[in-house]
Amino acid sequence: MARTAAIVPAAGRGERLGAGTPKALRPLAGTPMLVHAIRALEASRCVDVIVVVAPEEHVASVTGLVSDMDTEIHVVQGGETRQSSVARGLIMLPDDVDVVLVHDAARPLVPPDVVASVVAAVQAGNPAVIPVIAVVDTIKEVDDADHVTATVDRSHLRAVQTPQGFQRDVLQRVHADAEIEDTTDDAGLVEAAGIPVLVVGGHDEAFKVTRPMDLLIAESIIAKRRATGGMS
Ligand code: CTP
Ligand code: MG
Repeated sequence: MARTAAIVPAAGRGERLGAGTPKALRPLAGTPMLVHAIRALEASRCVDVIVVVAPEEHVASVTGLVSDMDTEIHVVQGGETRQSSVARGLIMLPDDVDVVLVHDAARPLVPPDVVASVVAAVQAGNPAVIPVIAVVDTIKEVDDADHVTATVDRSHLRAVQTPQGFQRDVLQRVHADAEIEDTTDDAGLVEAAGIPVLVVGGHDEAFKVTRPMDLLIAESIIAKRRATGGMS
């Protein structure tokens, strides 16, 4: 039977978080962010194989970090952009994989239900599926002189999370054909190819750890889960 894989881009430097260890290896409640992300994928019980795209110079340490985890995990060195890191992960996919998730290591606390609903929607025949949440802030357009030019109608806007799920052949084709090299969103490549992208419900806890305050939020979610017996 065909298997489901997850590519986990973890090769970014984490510049917005601040200098030091690459973001995916920064600890959250004592455990590297990447390990939390892998555990979240495993907890969904629908990911059979994982390809971690590791920061340059950290391939060996990441290999050690994931060596005793339950799932089959491959580790490959990342590229300069997220898109090139995902492309390197795609090359490592075993032949018997037909559904591919791409999940940011920087979203360590994604609830397993979100992962499962993305996989289910791809398995149901959708070529591309992304989890989204409503936009909470009012969004304005501004000009170069810092004046507001428009207030955007929020009702049709969604903030996009990961894991994004794809039929393997679709994701491989759009990556191979991509004319740009620095998209931060795989589904964007699918849209550009005119292929439909379905949205499903995401979750607040699938937020991306980006700035220092996000570390505090992530650690409080972990503390809450531990106190209530939830996963972390
Ligand atoms: N990523 C990657 N390869 C890159 C850039 C990013 O694998 N060349 C990964 C990151 O490790 C992260 C995910 O893509 O898990 C989302 O990227 P982002 O949140 O932007 O992380 P960074 O690029 O590390 O952060 P920053 O943009 O602040 O430097
Ligand atoms: Mg980045």
